[in-house]
Amino acid sequence: MINPREEVVTEGLVKLAVPRMEEYTRPDGRIEPAWMPVFYNPSAVVSRDATVLVLRVLHGSHGFTFIDSLAGTGVRGIRIAVESGGEGIVNDVDPRAVYYIRKNIQLNKLGNGKVEVYSQEANVLLNNLTFTGIPFDYVDLDPYGSPAPFLDSVFKPLAKKAVIGVSATDTAPLTCSHFRKTLRRYWFTCVDTDFEKEIGARLLITYIFKRAAALDTSVKPLLVFMHRHYYRVFLETRRNAGEAYRLSTECLGYIWYCPSTLERGYVKTLSDLNDVTCMSGEKPVPIGKIWICGLGDKDFVNRLHDEAGSVNWLTKDTRRILSMLKNEVELNNPYVRVDKLCSILGRNMPKYEELIDTLRSIGIKASRTHFDPRGLKIEADTRALIEVLKSDPTTR
Ligand SMILES: C[S@@+](CC[C@H](N)C(=O)[O-])C[C@H]1O[C@@H](n2cnc3c(N)ncnc32)[C@H](O)[C@@H]1O
Repeated sequence: MINPREEVVTEGLVKLAVPRMEEYTRPDGRIEPAWMPVFYNPSAVVSRDATVLVLRVLHGSHGFTFIDSLAGTGVRGIRIAVESGGEGIVNDVDPRAVYYIRKNIQLNKLGNGKVEVYSQEANVLLNNLTFTGIPFDYVDLDPYGSPAPFLDSVFKPLAKKAVIGVSATDTAPLTCSHFRKTLRRYWFTCVDTDFEKEIGARLLITYIFKRAAALDTSVKPLLVFMHRHYYRVFLETRRNAGEAYRLSTECLGYIWYCPSTLERGYVKTLSDLNDVTCMSGEKPVPIGKIWICGLGDKDFVNRLHDEAGSVNWLTKDTRRILSMLKNEVELNNPYVRVDKLCSILGRNMPKYEELIDTLRSIGIKASRTHFDPRGLKIEADTRALIEVLKSDPTTR
């Protein structure tokens, strides 16, 4: 059943036939999934682990329906069925992907119509499914690059209250490395900051929020993270135009930023900026409109963390990221690059853990961030961090 150009790998609780990976390996030893006839990226396992966990926490032992709309080898949909107990549709437009999806369903003995295979253009499928009357509890969107081409369709087949999981690998425009592309694709004017990876996550949520709101749907982040080359966000969706409006007034606003002192904060409207002045005496730069509410739901992330502790097949990376997110999810200020701040202040770098302890000892919540090893999240304004750094003898 497995031919010489294929191999079987294990991921989570499933076995997968995939194209023999050594044939698609770069000279530096890294696998290049884009060269494979069917896309399988072992390093995206964290994104799939998270998908399985999110659905386990949401649905426990109750059944639910799902669509894996851009499935590749079918790994994600098959894991959802085996590890989270979902029933649904696994779809890919490429017939070579469908060959692997069917093979992998057999390999994992997924009978009784638990998983149906489709080979349609994803927008066509998602729009057509709207008319079947079957409400789907979860839709997954895992595209090459940006999710923009699929976003309007993704909301169509959802139940009144549901969840979507969306990946984005176009990190360059999201993190403002391509100012023009960011403007064209995401209608967002970039500003250089020291927290561009967090900008990327907030911008992705903003964009999904606006496309959903246009279709009378509200979205709210449950889990948001960046890993290697991609962002992954899980959003609760409700068919509720009033809630979309309410959230737009509460959660779309501006980050204000002082480039010379790295101070930052949030305001809801531009006129609120009249009251803000940087320590340098300059006026801050507004960044937005952008999502200014939390990057995830604290209770939900705690439950994911606990669930991860109760199963033994997740990767170390998944557990590590969840542990970090558990701390940082409750701190909403954009992270500060401590190395940049020290350089501005003419100070040496302190030890991060000691700095966090000092901040906590004076009542300021602080945490490292998974976005950047040089970043620190604090629940206070940057002035407090500057004071602590200046009074720390080890930074002289
Ligand atoms: C990044 S891969 C998916 C990887 C997979 N979800 C995983 O976790 O390994 C994107 C897949 O989308 C498929 N695809 C691209 N455009 C599509 C479209 N418009 N409709 C349906 N499938 C599409 C490609 O054939 C490819 O297999």
